Amino acid sequence: MHLVTLLLIAASFSLIEANSIRVNNTGTENLVFILQALGHPPSNGTLIEAGNYTEFLVLNEWEGSFYTYPEECLDHPCDYPVTKISVAFEKYMFGGFYDFLIVDLNKGFNVPASIRSVSRPDCDVISCDANLLEICSEQDQVVDEAGEVVACQTSVLNYQDFKERCPNARVDGGDVDLGVCASMDYELTFG
Ligand SMILES: *[C@@H]1O[C@H](CO)[C@@H](O)[C@H](O)[C@H]1NC(C)=O
Ligand SMILES: *[C@@H]1O[C@H](CO)[C@@H](O)[C@H](O)[C@H]1NC(C)=O
Ligand SMILES: *[C@@H]1O[C@H](CO)[C@@H](O)[C@H](O)[C@H]1NC(C)=O
Repeated sequence: MHLVTLLLIAASFSLIEANSIRVNNTGTENLVFILQALGHPPSNGTLIEAGNYTEFLVLNEWEGSFYTYPEECLDHPCDYPVTKISVAFEKYMFGGFYDFLIVDLNKGFNVPASIRSVSRPDCDVISCDANLLEICSEQDQVVDEAGEVVACQTSVLNYQDFKERCPNARVDGGDVDLGVCASMDYELTFG
């Protein structure tokens, strides 16, 4: 997107106070959805049934992450590496206000995920659409009590494979892949 266009969009949105977020569970399993503001503990999980969604608002300048666990983690919280969508809304940069969007596989992967602006289809979609569990070597697998592989840790062994299959996701701290947009409404998908 042309920088002048971005600046105009940023200027026209600077008085609006919240971002609307819609989260679709596009998979076939129910998911526990969690949000975590930077520097705060994670929220209690919200169940999103397969094929359904949840919607909420976050304030401008909100910074943090969104992620999911399987339904089995609703009653006894799970803690293992997951696909995170990390955002920083309304950061002042390049002379305007921009949102920074990351699909973060820094620790690991559990489900495909994406983020896009609803009203600005010209902004990039940032995503990891591949199911990286399918290429997870045994030593990086996270297995649940039933013996099912629920996540894959990111390691030096699978970094290259993750990056090939999810080129605009951030696979380690050195990656600069992220989306820059100026929007008030985002749609996320998990599953
Ligand atoms: C999210 O769900 C809404 C309504 O259910 C649908 O219109 C939209 O296309 C979905 N988006 C994606 C990326 O699945
Ligand atoms: C989160 O769960 C705990 C334990 O069940 C409960 O005490 C607390 O009120 C919940 N917090 C919110 C914001 O719902
Ligand atoms: C789907 O999600 C909407 C919004 O969160 C909720 O009102 C509705 O009850 C859900 N439907 C089912 C079948 O869970």
